[in-house]
Amino acid sequence: MNTVTSATAAASAKRSVAVEFTDIVKAFGPVQVLHGVSFSLAPGRVYGLLGENGAGKSTMMKILAGYEQPTGGSVSINGTVQHFANSRDAEALGIVLIHQEFNLAEDLSVAQNIFLGHEKKKGLWLDDAAMERESAAALAQVGLKVDPRTKVRRLIVAEKQLVEIAKAIARHARLLIMDEPTATLTPSETERLFKLIAQLRADGVTIVYISHKLDEVERVTDEVIVMRDGRFVARAPTSDLTRQQMANLMVGRELADLFPPRDLVAHDEPPAMQVRSFSVPGWAREASFDVRPGEILGFAGLVGAGRTELFEGLMGLRPSSGEVQILGKPVHLRNPRDAARHGFTYLSEDRKGKGLHVNFGLRQNLTLMALEQYARPWLRPDAERAALGAAVKDYGIRTGTLEAKASSLSGGNQQKLALAKVLQPKPKIVVLDEPTRGVDVGAKRDIYFLIQRLAREGLAVIVVSSELMELIGLCHRVAVMRAGRIVATLDADHLTEEELIAHATGTIQDRA
Ligand SMILES: Nc1ncnc2c1ncn2[C@@H]1O[C@H](COP(=O)(O)OP(=O)(O)OP(=O)(O)O)[C@@H](O)[C@H]1O
Ligand SMILES: [Mg+2]
Repeated sequence: MNTVTSATAAASAKRSVAVEFTDIVKAFGPVQVLHGVSFSLAPGRVYGLLGENGAGKSTMMKILAGYEQPTGGSVSINGTVQHFANSRDAEALGIVLIHQEFNLAEDLSVAQNIFLGHEKKKGLWLDDAAMERESAAALAQVGLKVDPRTKVRRLIVAEKQLVEIAKAIARHARLLIMDEPTATLTPSETERLFKLIAQLRADGVTIVYISHKLDEVERVTDEVIVMRDGRFVARAPTSDLTRQQMANLMVGRELADLFPPRDLVAHDEPPAMQVRSFSVPGWAREASFDVRPGEILGFAGLVGAGRTELFEGLMGLRPSSGEVQILGKPVHLRNPRDAARHGFTYLSEDRKGKGLHVNFGLRQNLTLMALEQYARPWLRPDAERAALGAAVKDYGIRTGTLEAKASSLSGGNQQKLALAKVLQPKPKIVVLDEPTRGVDVGAKRDIYFLIQRLAREGLAVIVVSSELMELIGLCHRVAVMRAGRIVATLDADHLTEEELIAHATGTIQDRA
């Protein structure tokens, strides 16, 4: 028996996993991000790990799963101190982390990804048939209907997330860490995940659930553990806390209203952008809409309704047909850079794939779409640096140093950088696809106020979101897409979640 199968067999022997963190310290170079964190996890319970962006949640869990090594302190598993050199050491004890930023090999198939590093063999050869069969079973458990031979590159973000979860299931985890697992999932996929969590828990699996969606934390966890600024703050049974109390513990102060009061839009101004009969073959059919300066227009719809693809088409990223006018002039946008020159920018929902170059510095990421501003005639790093300094302050980006790479930012702080980046070219129209994904409650509120300020300054803002409350609370009007068509455009005053869902699923008369 080789070491891989023996590790899997041992893990599947239904051992329980109890964890004790003692005085965990972590520094990246000169920057200390964890300052002596101690807490314990008991087997068979579901823990919600809460904290603001950059509080240290992912770093703590990467240490537990062997992806990072602590600078000080110890981790003990079932009473024995362990030093994991890598994630394999942790997996041998049944500890598996599902990454917040996906960690899949794009050019490999779904099955190859699921078994990466744990390949099954028949004699000297890879046993593809067995791996595809077991992958199919794991995919069925998470409810993903794709052929295990499909290349990961061809999947949409929600599907990639489900592959990450299936991968952990196939590895027979006894302690499973989910870092923002539902950020990209639809409500029905989320429901299925919750059922799976309940099954795993009944089976004695310990689960750590990291999420900024407090309603989910309330529903699925037994206990919450709160961190702030790299320190342990509090723990309590979930049922003892209201959501408001959870939020206050995270930010360390009382939080006021999440949404700013809605401003009026000037109705007599001509549209900033006018779209007529715009189609993206296979995705969007005959979409027509206007957005005015100062207006916040929402786009609702189920995953797969074609919202992202419609805007990717408008940016010139997909083949398309139809008419587009910007400030009254017909345009043909060939690519995002061309679109930016016309005053139209797009924040992708796929932050890691299309939004940021995570191996580049913060500065290069920030100014990439607005290079003209910083190159007169040569690139001026000092001007770029000043812009970064301003953005870090304006958007509350938490970073150790300005010279850091984007990959060193926490998930929510990467989101803020991506947002700053698309606003750098000072667009007239901006599309924000899932702008608050992975962002903590306090920062969410900051982003809503920022969006409103931009609209007040005359920007036309389009918000694509799966969070219905966000659309209702923030937008003036909400367009609903279903199966590639805009089926309704609704005034956000008095709009309800139920009404949006009814249009998105087609159980109500269309009102385009
Ligand atoms: N590889 C790295 N190099 C330098 N700094 C890092 C690195 N990884 C994380 N950090 C820093 O450590 C701090 C904690 O980050 P972490 O990812 O643990 O936060 P988080 O609580 O998971 O936040 P979020 O809710 O935004 O995901 C942040 O300030 C982050 O910038
Ligand atoms: Mg994180």
